[in-house]
Amino acid sequence: MTAVSRRDFARLLALTGSAAMFPELGKGGPLNLTRAPLPATPAEPDEAYWKAVRARYLVPADLAFLNAANLCPTSLPVVETLERNTRFLDADPSAASRAKLTAGREESRRLLAVALRVTPEEIVMTRNTSEANNFVSSGLQLGTGDEVVIFGDNHPSNLQAWNDKAKRFGFTVVTVPVVLPHPGTDAYVSAFTNAMTPRTKLLAITHVTNTIGDMLPVAELCAMARQRGVMSLVDGAQTFGVLNLDLSVMRPDFYSGSAHKWLCGPKEIGLLFVDKGVHDRISPSIVALYPGAVGISRTMEGYGQRDEAALATLGSAVTFQETIGREAIEKRSRALAERLVSQLQTVPGVTFWSSTDATRYAAIVVFKPAALDPRRLASTLYEKDRIAVATSGGTARPGIRMSPHIYNTIDEVDRAVAAIRKYVASGLPA
Ligand SMILES: Cc1ncc(COP(=O)(O)O)c(C=O)c1O
Repeated sequence: MTAVSRRDFARLLALTGSAAMFPELGKGGPLNLTRAPLPATPAEPDEAYWKAVRARYLVPADLAFLNAANLCPTSLPVVETLERNTRFLDADPSAASRAKLTAGREESRRLLAVALRVTPEEIVMTRNTSEANNFVSSGLQLGTGDEVVIFGDNHPSNLQAWNDKAKRFGFTVVTVPVVLPHPGTDAYVSAFTNAMTPRTKLLAITHVTNTIGDMLPVAELCAMARQRGVMSLVDGAQTFGVLNLDLSVMRPDFYSGSAHKWLCGPKEIGLLFVDKGVHDRISPSIVALYPGAVGISRTMEGYGQRDEAALATLGSAVTFQETIGREAIEKRSRALAERLVSQLQTVPGVTFWSSTDATRYAAIVVFKPAALDPRRLASTLYEKDRIAVATSGGTARPGIRMSPHIYNTIDEVDRAVAAIRKYVASGLPA
């Protein structure tokens, strides 16, 4: 080894060694953690119960993390399962031990199907929602003369992706614009119905938008599409893991989600539900080895080496939520969001991009913080007050996005509103 390459090698080693690469790791605030199993969920869970849920997360006690819509923390039991599965694989990555993780992957699929009230044969475990949405826009036989109706407030993976593929495959995209404020079920159903023509083959919508948190009447829209022989794709990135979903009632043909959002699952795993009635209409975008074992996963989930430990761990994230209860999770997250809305309504100058009608949003609240710059406010809240929020809406709808979940407490929500009230009244520190 020459002197120069030895120096480079030493630098590389230092970089990948750990501390040099992640200098901030381990610097969180005080933890309030327990390894004890969760207590049984009371019929009417009180704040003490939700504090017990909070104590199963690694988020430091002084950090109010109000950004579930972006990326959720994974609970301690699931982190530990992931570590166990990873150690198991790295101790012996031979075929025999990998087969055990493969069985765990199929168990994760089964649990996902139970949670969504569908069958394992209809579940593809993707890398995330973006990939799931793109599997639909790349995998259907759409071409010249066909139309796809999309919602103008879809995430880029369900908006830009359709426009790009329209150019490639020759179909046409019709975009139904977002209406502000949320106009309600009937208005959206008629806007989408009016956009349909005999050439429409698919409707691509979002259950709850990431931009302003509006909840679309997806069951009504899927039914309207189905009546016309039109397929439907529902992007559920902001509802999977937080709403008490029943896809057998919603009846989309495709539904996508990410485990690393509201499910609080391992990172880089998502899902695509494909109704059995359309299995013969979609082709895999990737053809390779290591598919799933049942149904549509046998053709659409074979895309080479995956993180088998993480796939096998996914089921424990579903089980953790089942222990709390899907109904309780939805009720809690929505109650925290409603508390945010009602308290923010009392802050002078605050106005909402989100609907303030609780039937039209779920657990995402987006607002304009009076005359304050949302970006500066978000970074001040994080730096000075230990409150993590997101900015939203770009230049068209600039605002602050808050998305509370089961690990948040009422105290955290109140602390966030109090901090915003303070900065709106006295301005941001220089
Ligand atoms: C509605 C919606 N769809 C898709 C995505 C993409 O999710 P992922 O980055 O996990 O693929 C997001 C992410 O925020 C989203 O909010």
